[in-house]
Amino acid sequence: MIKTQNLTKLFPRATVPALKSINLEIQDGEFVSLVGRSGSGKSTLLYLLSTLDSPTEGNVFYDDVNVKNISAQEIFKLRNKNIGFVFQFHYLLQELTALENVLLPARKAKVLEQRRPMGLKLLEEVGLKGLEKRYPSELSGGEQQRVAIARALIMEPTYLFADEPTGNLDSQNGQMIIDLFDKINKEKGTTIIYVTHDKEFAARARRQITLADGALV
Ligand SMILES: Nc1ncnc2c1ncn2[C@@H]1O[C@H](COP(=O)(O)OP(=O)(O)OP(=O)(O)O)[C@@H](O)[C@H]1O
Ligand SMILES: [Mg+2]
Repeated sequence: MIKTQNLTKLFPRATVPALKSINLEIQDGEFVSLVGRSGSGKSTLLYLLSTLDSPTEGNVFYDDVNVKNISAQEIFKLRNKNIGFVFQFHYLLQELTALENVLLPARKAKVLEQRRPMGLKLLEEVGLKGLEKRYPSELSGGEQQRVAIARALIMEPTYLFADEPTGNLDSQNGQMIIDLFDKINKEKGTTIIYVTHDKEFAARARRQITLADGALV
């Protein structure tokens, strides 16, 4: 379970907080979409929930453990083992092929060879079979985004956070990604929280959270 307590984020050079005292509880195995206008705080909330950024005030709990009280080493372990993150602006390593990018978290966790078949399967599931050896510069924006999605799933995370994972995709490919999320959520019980501006995709989740001006609606 992930729980937030009065979660507030004021960026250094901002005058109004990006998030204002958010209280939220997400149970294990939930399938959640996060919606709201541009600038409403969706990315900020996703970063705080996933421990990639820390709040100005308030707390994030993972199963009643306050993330603030976990050592740097434990946080690193939580991130690499239990959390998958798809960035709004996907960061692939340019000198690695699609498959090597997908397998990067496995390489870090020293399980590269064990995970290779899953890397190939994931690339197939995001519609990139045959493109495993391409470099990011040889892929379209949407294809790169799908590589980043496969990379976020390679360690079979307990929690998946995806910031506009379908943002660069046409509706058919977007559908494929949401189908994959749905399948992983059902089969593995992965907690999935994704941001989208697409009403249809948002409706595919079993719970919808709306942000407006940094507050829950
Ligand atoms: N590093 C920063 N410094 C100052 N303000 C920031 C910073 N990052 C974000 N903000 C501000 O915080 C607010 C929320 O930003 P956020 O990126 O969370 O919005 P969003 O809902 O994800 O928008 P979008 O749909 O455009 O991605 C915005 O007003 C933004 O300008
Ligand atoms: Mg955003």
